[in-house]
Amino acid sequence: MRGRSLMPSSFSFPTCLLLFALLSPLLLTAQMRPTDAEGHQWWQHAVFYEIYPRSFADSNNDGVGDLNGITSKMGYLRDLGVDAIWITPCYPSPQVDFGYDISDYRNIDPMYGTLSDFDHMVAEGKKHDVRIILDFVPNHTSDQHPWFLDSKSSRNAPHRDWYIWRDGKGPGQPPNNWISLFGGSAWKFDSTTNQYYYHYFYAQQPDLNWRNPAVEKVMLDTTRWWYKRGVAGFRLDAVDTLFEDPELKDNPVLPGRNAQGDPNMENKYNTNFPEVHTELQKLRKVADESDAVLIGETWTSNVAQLDRYYGEGGNELQMPMDFMFTTVNKLSPPDFRSQIAAVNSAHGWPVFVISNHDIVRSYNRYGDGKNNDAIAKLMGAFYLTLRGTPIMYYGEEIGMENNDPTRQEDVKDPIGRTGWPKEKGRDGERTPMQWNGSTNAGFSRKDPWLPVPSSYKTHNVATESKDPNSVLSLYKKVLALRHTNEALLEGNYVALNQDDPNIMSYLRSYKGKAVLVALNMSAAPQKAAFDLSQQGFPKATLKSLIASQAATVGGGQISLEPFGLLIAEVAQ
Ligand code: GLC
Repeated sequence: MRGRSLMPSSFSFPTCLLLFALLSPLLLTAQMRPTDAEGHQWWQHAVFYEIYPRSFADSNNDGVGDLNGITSKMGYLRDLGVDAIWITPCYPSPQVDFGYDISDYRNIDPMYGTLSDFDHMVAEGKKHDVRIILDFVPNHTSDQHPWFLDSKSSRNAPHRDWYIWRDGKGPGQPPNNWISLFGGSAWKFDSTTNQYYYHYFYAQQPDLNWRNPAVEKVMLDTTRWWYKRGVAGFRLDAVDTLFEDPELKDNPVLPGRNAQGDPNMENKYNTNFPEVHTELQKLRKVADESDAVLIGETWTSNVAQLDRYYGEGGNELQMPMDFMFTTVNKLSPPDFRSQIAAVNSAHGWPVFVISNHDIVRSYNRYGDGKNNDAIAKLMGAFYLTLRGTPIMYYGEEIGMENNDPTRQEDVKDPIGRTGWPKEKGRDGERTPMQWNGSTNAGFSRKDPWLPVPSSYKTHNVATESKDPNSVLSLYKKVLALRHTNEALLEGNYVALNQDDPNIMSYLRSYKGKAVLVALNMSAAPQKAAFDLSQQGFPKATLKSLIASQAATVGGGQISLEPFGLLIAEVAQ
């Protein structure tokens, strides 16, 4: 296991001791969380927070968020209990896919600021003990990237082979039947050279050819360049799509059509190639030079696939996200139990998310329309107390809801325009952060790029900060506990009362200390008793640490109101 190196290796041992004596009070307060008694690394104790930069904080009131906006909120993030922020792409981009179409990997889009604003953000992050994670998009660039402009200019261009160009099968016929995730053929004809280029996503996002060593080299060097600039890691975008079958075999067609009207297809010949793992190992080697962390956008359909992303002996991604957890779309203890058991059976550290910029917000997915705040608290108490690292999505902590467009002409996300009305796109989960109850939720004085939902009047940082029973207050309490309680930091996970269909409960225990979490996932009051003798606590009594308003503990049992929660210390 690699630890966080605090000392330059060239110092002699006595010098180190002296330096440590002088610096340790500073280090302890500024950097270190409770000790890594189990050899856990910083990212295993950290809480990550995803920021969609267009929508987080707008420092210059132009209606779009920016880096200086993020920097101005470091105090808020620290106070909330966030240790690292993952910022979705903020590089120069024509913004067809809102930043996921990059035209320069080593700069900042002027809409978001400059490289010196970036450096300032890193420095302020350091002061607040908040690390910066950037989004790395290895699969494709923008069609406006200079590499692609050169590539398409002639069949002999220096960058021709940096992308995937092929002849069509015949006049007007693409090379094969592959479908773009965002609709239509995955091939676009370019009349300059009379060939098609491949794009798994939008046509404005041509796929890079990772079989070309020059592509690999420049991409690895780019990650190194950012690490040197102070980035603590990357979230790797769409890693499963890096390689395609060199023979371009047709994909098997499945019954039915998708929201875009295209035939359903098994992406057998354009995703999940073994070469992906070779590249992840190389990206990891570079990350290890800087003690950085790699998070994966790893959509998998079973735990064996997820397990593969950790790599042999842990040589690929430290943090592949378990998206199978997000597919449990109802409050179902049995389903959650089996998903947690599955991810725990993999050979790496679990990574939990409940929403992101591509998924409908958890507030809507789990909410029943009447008890949404209680359910939001329940979900917060749940995934923030599991064994693993959580990645929050901005706004989740205040119970932000989706604000889906109601008219096609208002849609900004292209898949929402082409897929309307079946697919409304992802605008709804990307609306501006709700800071207070003033116009535009205090995000911007100008009308923001996406409208805020009317619930911003009650669900905002300023209002919820004053309410001890708000979703925000619950998140803060749970995050504070998570950072200080040894059982939550280091403990194992044991599912309890596994036959209970209503209360999801588990024990986190470590060296004779334990925390019990009980979550009523039903709309009726529920009671439960726990026998913890098997877990080494034969005479356990429970002492409430964090609880919903009507939760009670006593007489050997707990009682929870509908969607109530209890986090309790186990005392012997
Ligand atoms: C990832 C991103 C998504 C983007 C796509 C193409 O799935 O999360 O937002 O559209 O990659 O880059």
